Amino acid sequence: MKTLSLRRPDDWHLHLRDGAVLQSVIGDTSRHFGRAIIMPNLVPPVVTTEDARAYRERILAAVPAGDRFEPLMTLYLTEHTNPDDVEEGKTSGLITAVKLYPAGATTNSHGGVRDLDKAMPVLERMAKIGLPLCVHGEVTTPEVDIFDREAVFIEEKLEVIRRRLPELKVTMEHVTTKDGVDYILAADRNLAGTITTHHLIINRNAILVGGIRPHYYCLPVAKREHHRQALRKAATSGDPRFFLGTDSAPHVDPLKECACGCAGIYTSINTMSCLAHVFEEEHALEKLEAFASLNGPAWYGLPANEEIMVLERQDAPVSYPAKRDTQAGPITVFDPMFPLHWQVR
Ligand code: DOR
Ligand code: ZN
Repeated sequence: MKTLSLRRPDDWHLHLRDGAVLQSVIGDTSRHFGRAIIMPNLVPPVVTTEDARAYRERILAAVPAGDRFEPLMTLYLTEHTNPDDVEEGKTSGLITAVKLYPAGATTNSHGGVRDLDKAMPVLERMAKIGLPLCVHGEVTTPEVDIFDREAVFIEEKLEVIRRRLPELKVTMEHVTTKDGVDYILAADRNLAGTITTHHLIINRNAILVGGIRPHYYCLPVAKREHHRQALRKAATSGDPRFFLGTDSAPHVDPLKECACGCAGIYTSINTMSCLAHVFEEEHALEKLEAFASLNGPAWYGLPANEEIMVLERQDAPVSYPAKRDTQAGPITVFDPMFPLHWQVR
């Protein structure tokens, strides 16, 4: 049997939610991943260090007994975020990054930033103290086509932030375009990008061909095939500027299967099987460890996990449940639309 050993991976972009959903989804991450950067877009959002401290406690209380898992907390940037509170969060070791959601860009982002100038004092402080900014890189201008929102964000917003604050470390989250990949490759420092599992597997046809398929809808929305190919090339290159952020984003089925469905794809449970499949297809299995386990910690200035994960290639397809049941309702698990053969031992 073919096997693959790698350092235990981490997830550098994850939505765990709260309450009943948190209780049911956390095990799918803590079973495989040592750490994860936890997104702060709860209702209400995690805006202060105190909010983050309390949320971290709720996450740790939900981790199944026997799993070792460290949630890395983020703050949700608003136009009223206090730079002193952010610095306190970093100094105390609680806060790993601050998340910028342009207001209106995605799920629970209405409290995000409309006017970047108003967030500058916080960004300046972050540049000074070495706290990274995680960016949802899409403009929200109604005139901009949804498939162009990432490319326009890079040109009109990200480039402006980076020119004003060259010392600020920026993680461009869930890169979905060749434009994003090329922008990261062109930067000599202080810029990296996460790539999701699903954007390596689907293009926009998955959402729209043969009927509208809400479980493939996420933001940034999947793009054309040549963008997916660029993401695959970046992820499997071993380049330290690219690493895994699943953006696993659980929503219960009634919130996805309706006239105005939520954005988000739930991949925590089968991400490692999916990634091994993708890296094998790209003849780059030996690069999976860099993408999932080494590049992320290096970027965030943390050691790689000590434990080893072993993946085995089974002859028969590996099955995953179609749904993750929660007390709030079922959550559909990402279906890659091909049989999975790699299984975590
Ligand atoms: O698809 C997404 N879901 N993209 C985001 O940016 C947010 C996330 C969520 O929280 O559901
Ligand atoms: Zn996200």
